[in-house]
Amino acid sequence: MKEGSEFSIERAKREDLKDLGEIYLKGYVGLEEYSYTHPEDVRAYMEWLWRRDPEGIFVAKVEGKKVGFVAGDANWFSKRAKEKVGAVHEIVVLPEFRGMGIGKALMERVISYFREKGLGTVELWVGDENFRAIEFYKKLGFEEAGRYNYWIRMVKKIQGQ
Ligand SMILES: CC(C)(COP(=O)(O)OP(=O)(O)OC[C@H]1O[C@@H](n2cnc3c(N)ncnc32)[C@H](O)[C@@H]1OP(=O)(O)O)[C@@H](O)C(=O)NCCC(=O)NCCS
Repeated sequence: MKEGSEFSIERAKREDLKDLGEIYLKGYVGLEEYSYTHPEDVRAYMEWLWRRDPEGIFVAKVEGKKVGFVAGDANWFSKRAKEKVGAVHEIVVLPEFRGMGIGKALMERVISYFREKGLGTVELWVGDENFRAIEFYKKLGFEEAGRYNYWIRMVKKIQGQ
């Protein structure tokens, strides 16, 4: 039904955080082992994402409705890489709006922001059984670059591309 719907991507505002928390809760149904589930924890997490980098959050909209977001962080120091990287702390699209290219467009938007900031690498961590997300990241050119407990570290070089 949603096939072919137009979407737009905008920089998030502080007042979007509440809606983004709701998208997060709906988007992680079935993946609770990797997510916050208590609304108060989700609220604190959204605030943390905002404090980390208030310019790095982008929201996707379909007909004015917020349907997904990415939370990037251009201030992150990677302990593994021992340098500053662009970190993607969160990306989520509402289930009924998946498979339309929205996740990909959100990632492209945050990568272009990281490039503006002069960063050469994107880093993220994904749950080792979150197969859908792992496939999505591989499709977008990310490669596995280490593990910690049940988390997989994935990176993508973005310099000069
Ligand atoms: C991961 C997620 C953000 C992808 O969003 P999406 O809008 O469905 O992704 P897109 O439609 O932009 O897909 C981009 C590419 O990834 C591929 N892809 C997406 N989901 C896939 C899946 N389940 N299996 C295989 N490939 C997949 C698409 O085929 C597409 O490739 P193409 O450009 O060649 O067509 C979404 O599934 C989601 O919100 N998941 C729950 C939250 C989550 O796990 N976030 C990541 C936490 S680390």
